[in-house]
Amino acid sequence: MKTYYERRATEYDDWWLGTGLHAGRHRPGWHESVAELTQTLTALEPARTLDVACGTGFLTQHLPGAIVGLDQSESMLALARERVPQATFVQGDALPLPFPGDSFERIFTSFFYGHLEEEDRLDFLSQARHVAGELVVVDSALNEEHEPVEWQERVLKDRSTWQVYKRFFTAAVLAEELGGGETLYESRWFVAVRC
Ligand SMILES: C[S@@+](CC[C@H](N)C(=O)[O-])C[C@H]1O[C@@H](n2cnc3c(N)ncnc32)[C@H](O)[C@@H]1O
Repeated sequence: MKTYYERRATEYDDWWLGTGLHAGRHRPGWHESVAELTQTLTALEPARTLDVACGTGFLTQHLPGAIVGLDQSESMLALARERVPQATFVQGDALPLPFPGDSFERIFTSFFYGHLEEEDRLDFLSQARHVAGELVVVDSALNEEHEPVEWQERVLKDRSTWQVYKRFFTAAVLAEELGGGETLYESRWFVAVRC
């Protein structure tokens, strides 16, 4: 997975923007949903926040408060630093989180939780609770195009192929899995839950 994201970094935002290899996709309401999701994040109370697996900083830029972004990929972080110069970015593995207990008020993570298989998922949740009082998880919504759990074949511009574990959620299922949470946003494409 590390190599996959490192090699995907320069084309990663194509997924968000509907450009590059994602230009031909039929995703009704996608851009509206991205705008609504970012508005939801902007409206959160400002907090000292750790954005776990921040990628290129596409959502990091909308988080209010003092922000630290963590990602394993230097190429992702280079793009995030350019995009969100006011934030601090740290290269490292999220499992385990390289921060002591209560270092942050909020942990935010987007499109990372749903790539974790059970053991890593439980590990991440326990660490997140140790490092911050609040957890906000954004991930992919379950719609008729997907199964709740898939092994997807991903293709990059260099034509390399990668097998990726990926889950899709209703907000209710995600909230229950997080131990009881509040739905901040739910659409055909995205869910955002706070607990
Ligand atoms: C699907 S991208 C999501 C990026 C960003 N959060 C977003 O919403 O656009 C997943 C990110 O997780 C990072 N990642 C995957 N496993 C990781 C780990 N164990 N520790 C830190 N970062 C990780 C990848 O490098 C990649 O940037």
